[in-house]
Amino acid sequence: MIKPHGSDELNPLFVYDSEKRHALVAEAEKLPTLLLNSAAAANAVMLGGGYFNPLTGYMNKADAMSVADSLHTASGLFWPVPVVNLTRETGIEAGSRIALRDPNVEGNPVLAIMDVEAVEQVSDDEIRAMAEKIFRTLDENHPGVATFTELGNTLLSGPIQVLNFSYFQTDFPDTFRTAVEIRNEIQEHGWDKVVAFQTRNPMHRAHEELCRMAMEDLGTDGILIHMLLGKLKPGDIPADVRDASIRKMVEIYFPPNTVMVTGYGFDMLYAGPREAVLHAVFRQNCGCSHLIVGRDHAGVGDYYGGFDAQTIFDEEVPDGALELEIYRADHTAYSKKLDKVVMMKDAPDHSKEDFVLLSGTAVREMLGRGEAPPPEFSRPEVAKILSDYYQSLDS
Ligand code: ADX
Repeated sequence: MIKPHGSDELNPLFVYDSEKRHALVAEAEKLPTLLLNSAAAANAVMLGGGYFNPLTGYMNKADAMSVADSLHTASGLFWPVPVVNLTRETGIEAGSRIALRDPNVEGNPVLAIMDVEAVEQVSDDEIRAMAEKIFRTLDENHPGVATFTELGNTLLSGPIQVLNFSYFQTDFPDTFRTAVEIRNEIQEHGWDKVVAFQTRNPMHRAHEELCRMAMEDLGTDGILIHMLLGKLKPGDIPADVRDASIRKMVEIYFPPNTVMVTGYGFDMLYAGPREAVLHAVFRQNCGCSHLIVGRDHAGVGDYYGGFDAQTIFDEEVPDGALELEIYRADHTAYSKKLDKVVMMKDAPDHSKEDFVLLSGTAVREMLGRGEAPPPEFSRPEVAKILSDYYQSLDS
């Protein structure tokens, strides 16, 4: 199986030894406390599950700035997005041991314990410099920029020990997986070549066929459909609805034992190209040999060119930095002429009118009215689940 990023073995930061974990939970009650923001909490969950291997905790300022600037930590580890604990709290001292509390679970239980190695101030200019590198824009209307620039100016760095997986394990018991669990499941399946499909949306025909094309072209043993379960911008479809519609599609339209339907606990960054590289890093940690990167991967609005998330792998990812390879997908849509879903590059004689193309807004409006999008666009069983959801919003 493909090796994790940056080490031979996966080193998740969750404390698996239950005795030790219970002792840490008890210790945490007596420690000074920090209420995390959702971004820092999501980082802890990813670190806990082994997704952010080989990191051992939150990055210090030198590493965060270096990663934003050049996709490497100060010591030369390839890493695409700063993994930080930026806060507005000011009372925490370097050298202290603190309990990190979860903002997303009622009662704010302790999510992790942190040994604070450094407390550093990051100026607004430095925050903006990082944001511009990560998101390629400083537009406050960009949801990722808006979040990142509001986290705070105090950066706490140091190792953490993770004590639970926040709301992900309780709210999505069938779907949430750690990277450790995914590696184990891939091994149990006896799969070697595995392609991952990143998604934050329900899957329509184009996505379904994209998965099939990638599996066939690459000759994989299976596919990991890996959905984001964390926070999204307003208007995006909630994880439980996406999960139900994806499961229904897989159940009806894929052969048994070829698909793993899973999810991970992270908030969407909307960082387009940089996030695609992060996606590649953590799918390698999951044991996947390939990641599908299609049109406007992890993008939002018009901030990124349609295929910037592919070209970053040529322009900014040094040879050998990752073992996982990306599967490059062109814009994919149903061809009325050929009566099937195709990549547009494979249908050079087609004009736009030859494809069934619907904007997200048009689909949402149709579903909201209780109308199903055409079967060439959405499987009827998927459309039904989405339509029920949209109609429940009106009632
Ligand atoms: S993402 O933000 O998680 O990337 P989404 O769930 O919409 O968003 O997309 C999942 C994957 O499918 C991404 O790799 C994206 O580039 C790709 N994709 C989505 N729609 C298309 C399409 N019509 N053609 C080609 N690739 C697509």
